[in-house]
Amino acid sequence: YRRLRVALLGAGAVGSQVADLLRTHADELSDRAGAALELVGIAVRNPDAPRDADLPRELFTTDSEQLIVGADIVIELMGGIEPARTDILLALSSGADVVTANKALLATHGPEIFDAADQVGASVYYEAAAAGAIPIIRPLRDSLAGDRVQRIMGIVNGTTNYILDRMDTGGTEFADVLADAQRLGYAEADPTADVEGFDAAQKAAILASLAFHTAVPLEAVHREGITAIDRQTMEAARHAGYVIKLLAVCERITDAEANSPTGEAISVRVYPALIPREHPLASVHGANNAVFVQAEAAGNLMFYGAGAGGVQTASAVLGDVVSAARRHIAGGVGVGESTRANLPVVPIGRVTTRY
Ligand code: HSE
Repeated sequence: YRRLRVALLGAGAVGSQVADLLRTHADELSDRAGAALELVGIAVRNPDAPRDADLPRELFTTDSEQLIVGADIVIELMGGIEPARTDILLALSSGADVVTANKALLATHGPEIFDAADQVGASVYYEAAAAGAIPIIRPLRDSLAGDRVQRIMGIVNGTTNYILDRMDTGGTEFADVLADAQRLGYAEADPTADVEGFDAAQKAAILASLAFHTAVPLEAVHREGITAIDRQTMEAARHAGYVIKLLAVCERITDAEANSPTGEAISVRVYPALIPREHPLASVHGANNAVFVQAEAAGNLMFYGAGAGGVQTASAVLGDVVSAARRHIAGGVGVGESTRANLPVVPIGRVTTRY
């Protein structure tokens, strides 16, 4: 096999599991990729910090630049905008393909990253950036590329689903459940991103961009979090036959005021919604996610599974690594994002449908 050098940036909840699986399943993954995948190093801020997996000390380095420049595939799992953005741009310009789970970066700098990849014929893979282990990026980008997606309704944040579910079933207080979600490795480093809906809004921007072939800027996503939901509200909802879930809704709408030739526009919004108990989204428990997609020809599709968690999300990352390796050795051109539809995103005040 040709040898491919894989560099990992970040060894947190997801990164340490990716490194561990890459090493323990090296032969199997290499067989599938058709290339020998060699983890050549892991760039971290502190090589001596405790990790979720037992990894050899000599793999760690603080010199990310040197690691990136020598790599064929760079896996970025640090999160945040910088230095992730600079590192990914360096990786692309050095001829590497990039795998990332960085929703914050893609939701704010997606076009810049994708353009940089296009320019050098490289690819950026990001299956793990939305809904953890659930395959949703490829289905939207590839499998449904021949259809017209009308609407996506998703539970795309595991932490808030875990919190709301526990409040619903156990009558527990918000703060206690949040501490559990952090302990279980679901929450972001700063859990405000979860409970205020920022994380879900980033994922909604990514999913809507793919579904509607339009670069959806994060600022255009309406966002409400779950911090105002208390036990009493949950109980009142339950008595009325509903459960409260943080929903991401991305939909194609007709809007007379929208600046588009056909009057077509999109709306992307994240808010705590009342879901009837019999709706399939009501039975999404714990840190699971579910993405309900309605497409013109395909009809209704539902994607369901673990939306957070280190090893679960590592599955999506490793799938991307195998894809990147296959493309890399085939010498194929980059897989670009199609944003040519360029539909306007309308503010929530002009949206009439609620779910
Ligand atoms: N904090 C995120 C969540 C992790 O709870 O869904 C997965 O993106």
